[in-house]
Amino acid sequence: MSEERVFARTLVTSALPYANGLIHLGHIAGAYLPADVFVRYKRMRGEKILFIGGSDEYGVPITLTALKEGISPKDVIDRYHSANAESFAQLGISYDLYGRTSWDLHIDTTQQFFKNLHAGGYIHEEDMELWYSVQSDRFLPDRYVKGVCPRCGYADANADECESCGAQYPPHDLREPRANIPGDSSTPVLRNSRHWFLDLPQFAERIKSWLDEHPEWRANVKGIAYGWVGDLRTRCITRDTDWGVPIPLDDPGAASKRIYVWFDAPIGYVTNTRQWGIDVHGDADAWKPWWKDQDTRLIHFMGKDNVPFHTVIFPAVLLGQGDFILPDQVPGSEYLNVFNRQTGQTEKGSKSKGNMISVRWILEQFDPDVIRYYLCAIAPESKDSSFDWDDLAARYNGELCDVVGNFVHRSLTMAVKNFEDQVPQPGVLDAEDQAMLDAIPAQLDLIAEALDGFRFRQGLERFIDLGRKANVYFDGKQPWVTRKTDLERTATTLYVCCQVVHALAYAMTPFLPGGAMRLAAILGVTLGKGGPEGGADVWEEGKRLIPAGTPLNPPQVLFPKLDKDRIAELAEIHRNGGAM
Ligand code: MF3
Ligand code: ZN
Repeated sequence: MSEERVFARTLVTSALPYANGLIHLGHIAGAYLPADVFVRYKRMRGEKILFIGGSDEYGVPITLTALKEGISPKDVIDRYHSANAESFAQLGISYDLYGRTSWDLHIDTTQQFFKNLHAGGYIHEEDMELWYSVQSDRFLPDRYVKGVCPRCGYADANADECESCGAQYPPHDLREPRANIPGDSSTPVLRNSRHWFLDLPQFAERIKSWLDEHPEWRANVKGIAYGWVGDLRTRCITRDTDWGVPIPLDDPGAASKRIYVWFDAPIGYVTNTRQWGIDVHGDADAWKPWWKDQDTRLIHFMGKDNVPFHTVIFPAVLLGQGDFILPDQVPGSEYLNVFNRQTGQTEKGSKSKGNMISVRWILEQFDPDVIRYYLCAIAPESKDSSFDWDDLAARYNGELCDVVGNFVHRSLTMAVKNFEDQVPQPGVLDAEDQAMLDAIPAQLDLIAEALDGFRFRQGLERFIDLGRKANVYFDGKQPWVTRKTDLERTATTLYVCCQVVHALAYAMTPFLPGGAMRLAAILGVTLGKGGPEGGADVWEEGKRLIPAGTPLNPPQVLFPKLDKDRIAELAEIHRNGGAM
């Protein structure tokens, strides 16, 4: 179990979003922000940690978007890969590398994986009946055909799976099929096609015992994983398409087919680690320890719909290679819904409803810390949560600004004004002073415990709690009153306050890197870099006392308040579908 194990290095991945649209807040809250908070925290701890992401650029999601927009698949991925890479960077999602599955290197990695499985006897061929459009003269994989789900009756089910009830079925079971291509909604016919299948049942026992070794995983993730492993069937890993990784077999039937996107996409993590090793170390083998050493800790962050692929299917693919490690943690999130104040209803985010909020749009409205604060505060860790504009303003203004921001600001302003721009020289500490100072390491330990346990909401709450305790202390000591009567007492109070401010800078770093940097500049401290090479434990430095006499730069408001009228305007734009 991970608590007992000591790892030499940690590889963190976040699911590769399809490069067929702009990433939105649902993606961020589920898969990207939690990963980034974790990575930033571990970098502070000095652990060797590598954070890999990238775009998922093959498959029907891409080609269907290309058809709809009347452009080529290459145009689609180029457009959205750069747009999304930019959004991630602006939001401070601190990947060590943000790669692409359209890279040539990825063809090589994927084909090696495929060939190893084939040589190991884990891949076999089968004929299957697939839907074929006579009108378009092509097979209709995945979302290219829609119909009625054979299990639940959902009207928009895909070729072999239903997004509504999660059912998987052979394509010929789909009822009332219709082509789903711009300009073609004809009724398809069944035709034979030869495909390659991954023999998942061969891995069932090994996957099951590996799952048994991880009782510490989130209940929702375990539930999905055990559900799948209990019902494993062979899985088709090729498609009738020309947009994907070529099948590395000397077989005339393979030429018109490609590897299925869900086979190649997670292998993208390996490709991108290879590319990172080449870029940073000029070493084509630098990736290997990150994927093959038993003392590497592998962690996959993602949304709920991706959980089966990361807890069962990709692990099977890794096992089939013979010398790859399996993930130690798979923090899968539930969904972020959208609260509609007009209807009083919580809605699922969907393109057709037009209720999504793109990262690009919201970054034009707010500082990244506003978005990071709210999304972490409502992160859908164990159950769905919902985005609500009034709640965003209430929580950001009422917690981050009023509790932490306000404490920091009044402490620093008073210290600067009354004590010559320095941390004041304390007199004798009384019990309250001492209790406040003792609370600093205790609270940092509590935050660390939450983050180590993948409970990011709780970590953020505990950070705010330190601010709450500090405000209680400040209000009790009334330095604005004692200033006129007892300067030594005031110096002691503000000395203690400066220590809390210093600790807050460290505690906020994983969540709010922008605010942390602004605060660090006022205090003249550096919060450390960390990364794949590891470093000093900077988090522990947050527990240290800064000496009296430390110079303080002019304080500025760390987290400016949001204006309620502006929030109402943005909510209106969002309601009208203008936030994407
Ligand atoms: N592109 C997929 C999605 O958006 C996720 C792929 S995750 C990976 O749902 F592991 F396959 F990379
Ligand atoms: Zn269904």
